[in-house]
Amino acid sequence: MKSARLVSALIGIGILLASAALAAAGNAQEGSAKSMFCAGCHGVDGNVTYISARLAGQSPQHFANAVNAFKHGQRFHPVMNILSQGLAEQDIADLGMFYAGQKPASLEQASLYWRLGGGDAINAAVDELIKVAQADPRMNGRITGGCRVKLKEQLCAATGGPCTYTGRDMRTAHRGMNITEAEFAATGDNLVKVLDAFKVPEKEKNELLGLIAPMKGDVVGQ
Ligand code: HEC
Repeated sequence: MKSARLVSALIGIGILLASAALAAAGNAQEGSAKSMFCAGCHGVDGNVTYISARLAGQSPQHFANAVNAFKHGQRFHPVMNILSQGLAEQDIADLGMFYAGQKPASLEQASLYWRLGGGDAINAAVDELIKVAQADPRMNGRITGGCRVKLKEQLCAATGGPCTYTGRDMRTAHRGMNITEAEFAATGDNLVKVLDAFKVPEKEKNELLGLIAPMKGDVVGQ
């Protein structure tokens, strides 16, 4: 009896995790249309802050957490508690993607994506990283221009920008490549060099490296 309950609890957790993984990707254009309801108080681009918090430049995750906290009564504001009831999961994903792409008037509490300088800066850093890697004998030609588009997309999504990563998961993407510790370490080293060349502040640099370090197990030795 006890173990049957445990099994059903585990299945329940499995379903929860699977549905989280399947959560619909947000669409910024849809979000823009849906944001008309919000513009009166938050501004057309989510930058109005005199009556509310800034929505522009928040990561989709941060945005979804805030809306869900209002929706589920963990956070209180009469207007937002009512308005959030009308937002389905897809609406929250679309709106989150829309606001994530709006340039914030202040970087305070903005996503790492904006604190790194937004899409242009991230794309330029990836171009430079690929250039540096291709010239680095420690990399054994591992990083090719073919990684460019997916790498940009992945960094944009991972830093809370308005992108959905459409590539394969890290383990699948590196299967059969036998990437070594040394090659992974050299990539980190090159990334630090590029971030320093782009004058990325220490805090943002550490946040970005902190996003990449946990991928090691899925990249090395696959
Ligand atoms: C009538 C005014 C009004 C409208 C319309 C409105 N909001 Fe708000 N919203 C507020 C206020 C005020 C707050 C700040 C509440 C607080 O801090 O407790 C807020 C806070 C939020 C926050 C939390 C921000 C954060 O980082 O803490 C989110 C997210 C949000 N609103 C989303 C929306 C969305 C999405 C819509 C449109 C569907 C919307 N709001 C429409 C007044 C409004």
